[in-house]
Amino acid sequence: MRTPRKPAAIGLAILVLTVSANARAEGDPRRGAQVFQACAACHSLEPAQHLTGPSLASVFGRKAGAVEGFQRYSMALKESGVLWNEKTLDAWLQNPAALIPRNTMVFRGLPDARARDDLIAYLKAVSEGKAAAVRGMMQPQLSDLKKAGADSLVKAIRYCGDAYHVTTGDGETVQIWEFNLRLKTDSSKRGPAKGQPVLVGAGMAGDRAQLVFAHPGEISSFVKARCD
Ligand code: HEC
Repeated sequence: MRTPRKPAAIGLAILVLTVSANARAEGDPRRGAQVFQACAACHSLEPAQHLTGPSLASVFGRKAGAVEGFQRYSMALKESGVLWNEKTLDAWLQNPAALIPRNTMVFRGLPDARARDDLIAYLKAVSEGKAAAVRGMMQPQLSDLKKAGADSLVKAIRYCGDAYHVTTGDGETVQIWEFNLRLKTDSSKRGPAKGQPVLVGAGMAGDRAQLVFAHPGEISSFVKARCD
């Protein structure tokens, strides 16, 4: 480090002061990217990609509860008046409910101060465009359902006995036990086209599958309860 010429003792005193003042904030963003795995099931670092929680792409320096396009903030978070910086993020990640009571983030907190510092350094680096967004191992698979192939595009759904018989665009019909089939909606940009539900996961992971609709109104019109 280049220092202007000063008596050595003063230079050292300044150095010691600076180091101790910054000691808590000097996290390692590379280790922080690992710690982020604890968040990845609910948060993406891609701008505008909202999951259970809002995108954290540019959370640093922002007002709490203000990320555009995230529609499920609690009143508690929106009205907290918190600004996200090293200090507030540290308190939030240590114990979210203590910083903002009645928030809806289901997370107990990170008790390890070092892990919090690393994670905060990483979030800051991502917000400033200095680190790449890692894709979490726990992050849900989000494929663009408008690009689904014929073998996933649903043409008909028949409900008989305790099973759904799902016919897809390639003419195949699969039979799935009712308890193994989840009916979901996805109104986001990557969701299915209107009136064109998509079957996800059948045959791949074995016996479980999901039917994704563009809107809940489509569910009752698509599913026909009959056994013929
Ligand atoms: C189980 C899902 C879940 C996990 C795990 C989770 N979060 Fe959250 N997070 C949420 C939800 C939901 C909200 C919105 C809470 C509200 O509105 O009260 C949120 C809000 C936030 C906010 C405020 C964002 C804003 O726009 O004001 C930050 C910052 C945050 N989370 C960081 C983290 C970090 C870092 C981790 C990992 C250590 C983490 N979260 C883990 C679901 C989660």
